[in-house]
Amino acid sequence: MTEPFDAVEVIAAKRDGHRLDDARIDWVVDAFTRGVVAPEQMSALAMAILLNGMDRAEIARWTAAMIASGERMDFSGLSRPTADKHSTGGVGDKITLPLAPLVAACGVAVPQLSGRGLGHTGGTLDKLESIPGWRADLTNERVVAQLEDVGAVICAAGSGLAPADKKLYALRDVTGTVEAIPLIASSIMSKKIAEGTGALVLDVKVGSGAFMKHLDQARELAETMVALGTDAGVSTVALLTDMSTPLGRTAGNAVEVAESVEVLAGGGPRDVVDLTLALAREMVTAAGRGDVDPADALADGRAMDVWRRMIAAQGGDPDAPLPTPRETHVLTAPGDGVLTRLDALAVGVAAWRLGAGRSGPGEQVQAAAGVVLHAKPGEQVRAGQPLIELHTDTPERFARAMEALDGAFEIGGDAPEAPESVVLARVD
Ligand code: URA
Repeated sequence: MTEPFDAVEVIAAKRDGHRLDDARIDWVVDAFTRGVVAPEQMSALAMAILLNGMDRAEIARWTAAMIASGERMDFSGLSRPTADKHSTGGVGDKITLPLAPLVAACGVAVPQLSGRGLGHTGGTLDKLESIPGWRADLTNERVVAQLEDVGAVICAAGSGLAPADKKLYALRDVTGTVEAIPLIASSIMSKKIAEGTGALVLDVKVGSGAFMKHLDQARELAETMVALGTDAGVSTVALLTDMSTPLGRTAGNAVEVAESVEVLAGGGPRDVVDLTLALAREMVTAAGRGDVDPADALADGRAMDVWRRMIAAQGGDPDAPLPTPRETHVLTAPGDGVLTRLDALAVGVAAWRLGAGRSGPGEQVQAAAGVVLHAKPGEQVRAGQPLIELHTDTPERFARAMEALDGAFEIGGDAPEAPESVVLARVD
């Protein structure tokens, strides 16, 4: 087959600050998926995009080309509307676990096709796999059947969905080109649009534990993604939420499942409950069921019922004890006072080094590895009291995890000004 363009010409155009036309974008994404554009050429183009950006029309075309690289799912035959949530990734971000069954309990089907963690941000599937028997891999037919029957599915995205993104993401991860807004926005939205959800709520994280460290960057990313979703006919809104400190009191795998079950049972940390409810309200409203209050479905146990059915439908035993670590190590408070800072990135890296995450694709994670926080910013602590508890099956990992936590927290005299809410802004 004769190729209509030359990869070097496309790279040079973006390198020199020009916009790429539709035909060149369609070709380069398709030719990369076919293996005609080499990985080193696509890496160079990704770096040129990171440095010189793309306008909205280029990003929309790039997203469409990534969608066209694979299959599209279709949930139009379901008896209820669909809504999904996507988080840009954070530390202790277990929100999908209570959120999916909660929204399903409100009459909205939730097709949550999720990923595994890479680096310091945890992966939803890794967390759920700590439940004995639970399986992440479902066929498209099983996904549709479970959505009709139970109302919620959390499973691995099939390999047929946006394969161009899978190839490109793997390259970006090793070429310092993850943090480009056009590439993040098109990566996330191509998967969500191809998935076929009717409504989408984006949780764009801001702070040390997130890709976006500052509010203005996060807002730009949110606006770009909301525009892409809306133009594709998906009812899309974004919440910008705080990720300067971990969400809840746990980061890791089984520990985050346990905390999510506490939320479904009517307890759990305030920030996790508040964010779960805020996202649930957005999802049911975007799906046209704004008359239903998710707080009721949480309080009366309906969300817990859906959780149990969702776990059982995927082979898991919701009553089985969760794995416990072989070894624990407790860091204590060095003095009396108020915990004024607890850094999200440091806690995420510690959990990762304890074995909760992987350093390369395909590595096994430890179900019982993670971190339990005995105090959150704003809380009073006493010298010698447990502050951070480290869990692992391989105690030789403690030293590197402790290194990550060096300088991660401060104890002072005055309580920091508590943010009103973990939700910082809304973009629609
Ligand atoms: N998550 C994705 O799916 N893609 C990105 O580029 C970043 C986060």
